[in-house]
Amino acid sequence: MFVILFFTVFAVYLGYELYWKRRNLPPGPCPLPVFGNLLSINSPPPGYAAFEGWTKKYGDVYTFWIGSKPHIMINTYDKVKETFIRDADTYTNKVRLPALDLFRGGDHGVIDSNGVKWRDHRRFALTSLRDFGLGKNLMQEKILLEVQDVFAKFDATEGKETEIPPTFDNAIANVINQLLFGYRFDETKQDEFQELKQIIDAPPELFGKLHMFLAMNIPILAKIMPESLYEAPFKDFRDSAFAFFRGQVEKHRQQIDFEDLESENSDYVETYLKEQRKRQNEGDEETFSNIQLENMLMDLWFAGLGTTTNTTTWALSYILHYPKAQMKIHEELDRVVASDRLITTADKNDLPYMNAFINLSPSKQGLPSLEKKCATMVEPRIFSGILKKRR
Ligand code: HEM
Repeated sequence: MFVILFFTVFAVYLGYELYWKRRNLPPGPCPLPVFGNLLSINSPPPGYAAFEGWTKKYGDVYTFWIGSKPHIMINTYDKVKETFIRDADTYTNKVRLPALDLFRGGDHGVIDSNGVKWRDHRRFALTSLRDFGLGKNLMQEKILLEVQDVFAKFDATEGKETEIPPTFDNAIANVINQLLFGYRFDETKQDEFQELKQIIDAPPELFGKLHMFLAMNIPILAKIMPESLYEAPFKDFRDSAFAFFRGQVEKHRQQIDFEDLESENSDYVETYLKEQRKRQNEGDEETFSNIQLENMLMDLWFAGLGTTTNTTTWALSYILHYPKAQMKIHEELDRVVASDRLITTADKNDLPYMNAFINLSPSKQGLPSLEKKCATMVEPRIFSGILKKRR
């Protein structure tokens, strides 16, 4: 009797796992109970072979499972456009893994938040970054200063083997930090820059460990895993990252004139802190909190530095491997610029070949860099959105 009962329950469970829960979703690889398709994705990690195989087998839209959560992959430009551009509002929300609260100290920041908090802080950040030059001539001046610095560093190592990304990293970080705090990481601030770099580089390693990845995606594992293995690394990271940002913010706070809240601001943090004070004066302590600011700084660094360094390093390495393209760009520059002067956005229309090269080279980066750098921003939104529509 017990055996029959056991087999009946087991058969119902398998029926649910293998058929029932998948019946309304696009076809895809068969998930294992508890793990879903995680084991295939991890052999070998980070899963390129698995995704390529599934695309061949199931086409451009298919379902795969991370733990007990279905994820829908969309592979074509037309489908992505139809879904995320034409129907953008339906797909605004992002999945919030419980681990994010450990990592962030609550539902904060802009990359992983949803709803009013996401909308207001995204808008606030975009408006203030535009005020300080994003997309304007003011920004070009800041970038050209860094370009000259990069040239000087490369000239100094001419003929020797040199690591390109650290130089790009420093230059790009200088531009971002000017937007955020109003200063560059010059020679006197290299220790600060190195500390920041360690913080920004830590999460891929932290999240990349197999046991962390499994615990983040399989709630039962997170519950039974010892605290020292799962929760403590998140908290340790958060404590050190936020202590660093808090230190920077507090130093900046001392320099701000809060007597005149309408006076002109010079960077994002100043704008934020004055907005915080205005809201506090109206009795709102929550919307522009200190922890939200620390999370915003973390998000802007995570989203801004690796992406831009990767894109520029990739473009440089791409051009080195395509001497024909290099020659054509050279010819165009000799003809149009014809001197050693710096090239600016005013030259854009006269340099169609170089412009096309710049626009196309990120698309040639392909899966590895997009996956690695944008997964935390892009994937959750894609998957949550599609599922929401089906509910
Ligand atoms: C070549 C460089 C860059 C690339 C390829 C890139 C790419 C992306 C992508 C694909 C997204 C996801 C968009 C979405 O979810 O709708 C994103 C979001 C974001 N990016 Fe960039 N980005 C770059 C540079 C920057 C810079 C310089 C900053 C700021 C300093 C920045 C800040 C952000 C932020 C805050 C988000 C999250 C927005 C949100 O969730 O609402 N990015 N980026």
